[in-house]
Order: sequence, then C-alpha cells, then structure tokens
Amino acid sequence: MEAIRWKDNALFLLDQTRLPEGEYWVRYTDAAEVAAAIRTMVVRGAPAIGIAAAFGYCLAALRGQDLTAARDILAASRPTAVNLFWALDRMERVAKACGGDPEALIREAIAIHREDVEMNHTMSRLGSAVVPAHARILTHCNAGAIATGGYGTVLGVVRTAHAQGKVEMVYCDETRPLLQGARLTAWELTQDHIPATLITDSMAAVLMAQGKIDLVILGCDRMAANGDFANKVGTYSVAVNAHYHGIPFYSALPSTTIDLSIPDGAHIPIEERSPEEVTHVAGVATAPRDVPVFNPAFDVTPHQLLTGIITEKGVIYPPFRENLAALFGG
Ligand code: MRU
Repeated sequence: MEAIRWKDNALFLLDQTRLPEGEYWVRYTDAAEVAAAIRTMVVRGAPAIGIAAAFGYCLAALRGQDLTAARDILAASRPTAVNLFWALDRMERVAKACGGDPEALIREAIAIHREDVEMNHTMSRLGSAVVPAHARILTHCNAGAIATGGYGTVLGVVRTAHAQGKVEMVYCDETRPLLQGARLTAWELTQDHIPATLITDSMAAVLMAQGKIDLVILGCDRMAANGDFANKVGTYSVAVNAHYHGIPFYSALPSTTIDLSIPDGAHIPIEERSPEEVTHVAGVATAPRDVPVFNPAFDVTPHQLLTGIITEKGVIYPPFRENLAALFGG
C-alpha cells in the first residue's frame, strides 16, 4: 500500500480526499500544483508531504524554474509538519552542490522516499515490543502507509504487532473534522484484514473507562526538543484521557519529525484551516451560516503525558530532553 510514486519524470499521488470512495491517482508535473496538492490534502501526513515536496522540487528543476521560488511555494503549503522543511532543506543543499542538476535531485528525492520506508520498518520492529498480547489499541487520525512513504509509523507498528499475533482490536477515532481516522485508517486496516472498530472522537474516554483500551499509539507532525509534540487536533484530549485512566500513551515518528531547534511545544506553528471544514460535512451545511469557527488542524500535547516515543533508533522514555538529545542531537 502506497500513496506516492515517481515515474517518467512525473509525480503520482493517490488522492486521499477521495478515499475510501475510490482509488484515484493524480499526475503532477508542476511544483506549484504539488504545493496545492499538499495544501488541499490530496497528500497528507507529515512524512508524505515531505516526500511529495522533494519530488515537487525536482519538477521545478526539470522545468528549469527558479529553485528558490519553488522552495518558497512548497514551503508555504502547510506550516506544522517539520518533515516538509526538513525535506526541502535537504533538496536545497543537494541543489547547491550539483548546480541544480535534475537527475541528481531526483536521485535525492528517491532516497528520501526509500529511507522513510526503511525507518518505518525499523521503528515498527522496535515499537512492536511495547504492544502486549491481545492488545486493544486506540489511534487517532491516520499515521499509516499513505501518510508516509509506505508501511506507516503507527500503522507500521500495528501491522508488525498484528503479524506477531498480538493485536486483538484497533479502535480508530474518526478524527473530526476531516475524518482521517474513518476514511483512511479504517480503510487501511480493513484492506489488510486487521481487526478495526470505528468510533467517534468523543467515544474514546468511555472505552478507556470500561477497560477496553490497553495502549494508545498515535503519530506526530513535529516534536520539540523536550518531547512536546504537535499532532492532529484531538490528540491532546486522547492524552489527557489516557493519563487519567493510567493507559500507556506512545507517539511513533521518524527522526525527520523531530525539531531539536525549538525548545518546547509553544514554538510549534499550528495551522488553522478553513471554517467550512467544521461547518460542512461532505459539502452539506451542518451549522448555521456565519457562525464563528475555530479550526486548528493540530494541537500540542505536553511531554509529561507521553509514556514513550517510538522511533527508528529505539523507543525513548523520560527524561525526554536528555534522551532525545542523546539519540538525535549529534
Ligand atoms: O492534517 P493531516 O492529515 O496531515 O495530519 C496528519 C497527522 O496528524 C498524523 O498523525 C501525522 O502527520 C503523522 S503521519 C505518519
């Protein structure tokens, strides 16, 4: 299962706005169109938008366009996931070294894509160790194969633990307002025949109270040096609920999602998206016209609520600032 392909000097993206209704691939040959695809969430998920941006940068090089301008357009697409900026910085360094040679840039973007899949497999193997037998796992949003280069971070851990016979049930928060949990996570799990139950976001606490959740694993869009992290809005509520009920709470992420340049979560820019995402469901108004709306795409969970961080270099436990620096600082 994958959502990003590079073929014949073009980028192909699985249109995630149309899942699970159908699998439609869109072909891109222009960097500005890739930026629009990221903004409109044809491609979404922190690692996936970094990979798409890297290929978008290659398209600008192939067209002989100004690479600084292309970088700026791609970087302006979404502010929160640090993978986007990490990938563009890496592409820009290579562009400087190779004089903007499209072939060298394409090789780099393909490497970024391949390394992401490798990191997912490694973190999944390491992370599956925290999954107990007969696990009933809660997740939020989609941190699956289609949010990454392939295999997934959270759903990678789930896939590996399932192959080990340890997964009894995955509860998927539907994830308002854009329903990534319902449309994407439930879709990925059912495609792979992994037991999945869909709930609305407000149902997670009652499952915890009934003793039906053993473990929470969810993704990350940017983690600060102290372990505070931004992820899909609603993550903070899940964290508070898990803490209250004494349920282990993990975030799974590749090192490309860690931003050691910021000391804590207060420095993470949080994207706000259009009011229509909240006032409408599938194009139908579900709120009075002109009601004021607050629609942050992400929230910040303080590191005190995290049990551990699953990465490709190992599972990290508190103290997070010291242990993140030790693993990723140098
Ligand atoms: O707005 P989205 O759908 O891009 O948000 C995605 C998430 O919050 C994911 O949990 C995160 O990017 C990790 S994906 C491996």
